[in-house]
Amino acid sequence: KMADHLRKLEAMFTITPQRMRMIVEAFKDTLEAGLQKPAQVVPMIPTYVFGWPTATETGEYLAVDLGGTNLRVCLVRLTGGGKFEITQSKYRLTEEQKQEDGQKLFDFCGECLKVFIDVNIENGEITKGKILPLGFTFSYPCSQDRIDHGELIRWTKGFGAPNTEGRDVVTMFRKSLALHGVPAEIVALTCDTTGTLIASHYVNPATKIACIFGTGCNAAYMERVGDIPKIAHLGIDPDAQIAINCEWGAFDSFEHEHLPRTKYDIMIDESSNKPGEQAFEKLISGRYLGEILRLVICQLIDEGTVFLGQNTYKIEIPYSFDTAFLSLMESDPTDELLMIIGIFTHFFALETTLAERQFFRALAKLVGRRAARLSACGIAAIVSKMGYLEEGCSVGADGSLYNKYPGFAERIHEGLQDIFGEKGRNVVTHHAEDGSGIGSAIVAAMTKIRKDAGL
Ligand code: BG6
Ligand code: GLC
Repeated sequence: KMADHLRKLEAMFTITPQRMRMIVEAFKDTLEAGLQKPAQVVPMIPTYVFGWPTATETGEYLAVDLGGTNLRVCLVRLTGGGKFEITQSKYRLTEEQKQEDGQKLFDFCGECLKVFIDVNIENGEITKGKILPLGFTFSYPCSQDRIDHGELIRWTKGFGAPNTEGRDVVTMFRKSLALHGVPAEIVALTCDTTGTLIASHYVNPATKIACIFGTGCNAAYMERVGDIPKIAHLGIDPDAQIAINCEWGAFDSFEHEHLPRTKYDIMIDESSNKPGEQAFEKLISGRYLGEILRLVICQLIDEGTVFLGQNTYKIEIPYSFDTAFLSLMESDPTDELLMIIGIFTHFFALETTLAERQFFRALAKLVGRRAARLSACGIAAIVSKMGYLEEGCSVGADGSLYNKYPGFAERIHEGLQDIFGEKGRNVVTHHAEDGSGIGSAIVAAMTKIRKDAGL
């Protein structure tokens, strides 16, 4: 019976090379559409980060990173020649903070930054009385018309803080800095993908694309201004380069025409705080993979296939199955699958048989593999659109999924070969330099250089 279930699930979660190629074609059209006109589903946001860094960027910067899971505050010293030093503190955001009033969330960021600065003044790391330039990494889709401004288009990754969508998050954060008397001036707003693109290129100039595979999923790359019709009216030099934050997590939202969604994916979507949205991200990112697996298990419980006679209330709690469990399940080195025993007994008070554990592991593999293969489709769409396949390109990648999920990178690479054949080997992902710390500081420095040059 287990074997039957597994066969069915395999059919649901496996994406053939042919299907991948179809997804890539649709993806390319969507990327182009986003460059053509404003306010498309995949917004292809011009970030006002012009061109690559030159490694001559220097100076002392603060960086604040409001991601999906943590708040990070950093002090970055760029010492030139591609070198840097960084000191940082990390705070975990609570579920309440993600849903409370937006200004409160920014006030919390301001408060953490104030504490961080005070500690560093005491250590002698920061000079008292000095106002430091600050790069703010805010990793949600914001439409920008200059580097130090961005209106939140919509929350993603489960955030829902009211009174924030449609507003300029830089203005909101400035208000919080003033409230706490923080000696910092926001000079640049970036997304984690843009920061990763710049930081990665800073240390590895072969980098052309950056991706985040973490709580969310997204990419950025460098585009020729002349190839972005929607900003033609701004009169920027058409040969200039500008970083594009794709916000590709929104691919196939609302219409659901291109991606192979299972009934479990549809359940996640419909019960989320943003039904219909972030369709691509919901199949890939760390926020959802554990939940997909949990929903399959819950269905097997309902059918009486697993955990008969046991109390299953713990595993029936939405989002109780962390994506980190999938990583652990896939990497369990023991024949008895002792780690999987541990997860189910310790976190869910459930006993498992060896056959069940093997089944769960196979299931984790299906979910994890599908995520990586879909990720490959996104990368392939940019590579193909930009004509990077022949010359080859390096993709800087970051995020908990990429960094911690066993075999995630290898599966992306396999997927790229399924799409492009042998030439797929020309596209290689590598762990990126810290985008929202180093990247954000470099962007702040680049902004200053442009300003000093009167641009
Ligand atoms: C970090 C990057 O490593 O990964 C951040 O420095 C990024 O810029 C983050 O936002 C994304 O991963 P996760 O798993 O925290 O969402
Ligand atoms: C979500 C956000 C995007 C971010 C990504 C990775 O998709 O909308 O801005 O880059 O998560 O953190």
